[in-house]
Amino acid sequence: MRIAVFASGSGSNFESLVKASREQGWPGEIVLLVCDRPGAKALERAERLKVPARSFVPKSYPDKAAYEADVLHLLQEYRVDWIVLAGYMRLIGPTLLTAYYGRIVNIHPSLLPAFPGKHAVRQALEKGVKWTGVTVHLVDEGMDTGPILAQEPVPVKDGDDETLLTNRIQTVEHRLYPEVVLRLIRGEIDTDALMKQREEQTT
Ligand code: GRF
Repeated sequence: MRIAVFASGSGSNFESLVKASREQGWPGEIVLLVCDRPGAKALERAERLKVPARSFVPKSYPDKAAYEADVLHLLQEYRVDWIVLAGYMRLIGPTLLTAYYGRIVNIHPSLLPAFPGKHAVRQALEKGVKWTGVTVHLVDEGMDTGPILAQEPVPVKDGDDETLLTNRIQTVEHRLYPEVVLRLIRGEIDTDALMKQREEQTT
């Protein structure tokens, strides 16, 4: 299976996925990094890890459809089977969603449906919860709303700030995400059934 990782920022999950994928017997390969922020640290990691990378400037396109059409071309060129979002700070639009329906996965730093969106860690701290966590889910048209594939709790400790809590969450992410992606590319999860179930719930 050929995987493209999409990232906008640091790319630590991208790196953990690449390392896992290079372990013996892994049935997939990270063939491409797609980045929507030129200068993102994820691009430096791709260079160091020798993974082909392409950065886009979405606002240089007339609209999201035009941007995603270009990304889709690239994915087709690389014969990508799966899209793995890893800190990609943009909603996936209909162009990519249709082409990769049920084959796009995301990781989110909370126990969804709690704290969707960009500030999940900060919101958990503000709310004063004792536990937050990590969710891996399939992507649909909503913001962090697709079918959940795995969740793992992470404790919030006294004296935590956003950095401390983010680091604790990311330690879990770096282990959990490769595990779930492995199950997906082995075909161990019936993603079609999960997406269908979700459609039925929302219509
Ligand atoms: C991760 O915490 C992930 O849950 C969220 O964005 C962050 C990306 O971190 N979607 P990194 O770029 O992989 O270091």
